[in-house]
Amino acid sequence: MIEIFVEAIWLILPAYIANSSAVLLGGGKPIDFGKKWRGKPILGEGKTWRGLAGGIICGVISGIILNKIWNLFGYGFSSFLIFLSLSFGALLGDIAKSFFKRRIGIARGKPLPVLDQIDFLIGAFFLTFILNKDWFLAHFTLLHILFLLFLTPFLHLVTNIIAYLLGLKDVPW
Ligand code: CTP
Ligand code: MG
Repeated sequence: MIEIFVEAIWLILPAYIANSSAVLLGGGKPIDFGKKWRGKPILGEGKTWRGLAGGIICGVISGIILNKIWNLFGYGFSSFLIFLSLSFGALLGDIAKSFFKRRIGIARGKPLPVLDQIDFLIGAFFLTFILNKDWFLAHFTLLHILFLLFLTPFLHLVTNIIAYLLGLKDVPW
């Protein structure tokens, strides 16, 4: 059981890093250029080009570094395309969620519990499955996927509380 847990976290790390780097590096021009669709923002000001590019770059670089570490343990199984689909997929999932939130009338930054926390995971799974089906099926079993989907919201909560205690965030969620 603990192995599945470690494997799952380890393999999805580029997506986690891509997602958090977008928050750290984001800002500037919004992806939707401030445009609206049927009176509501297409994506909103929280999705920026800098966040998107920064997230992808950090996700891919972290994947390359992690792969060097995997290689030390004899697992030479990941390629650039996989890191790219994990990172890009994570950010596309986040963007798709914002698109959905705007359509149902939830303003930028207002919470949509659970989906806000796992949007990037769903995106990363989805794009990696589409682009690297064999790799995906060889490394992610249903158990790995369920583990991550259940664990991630809790992990989010814990990191947000730590960020709040460190004074990095105004609210602990
Ligand atoms: N961010 C960004 N570009 C991205 C993703 C995130 O600039 N592609 C930054 C934004 O500063 C954003 C912050 O990360 O405000 C937090 O991301 P998220 O919670 O996904 O966005 P919200 O502002 O909460 O907006 P939404 O309601 O659309 O989720
Ligand atoms: Mg948010």
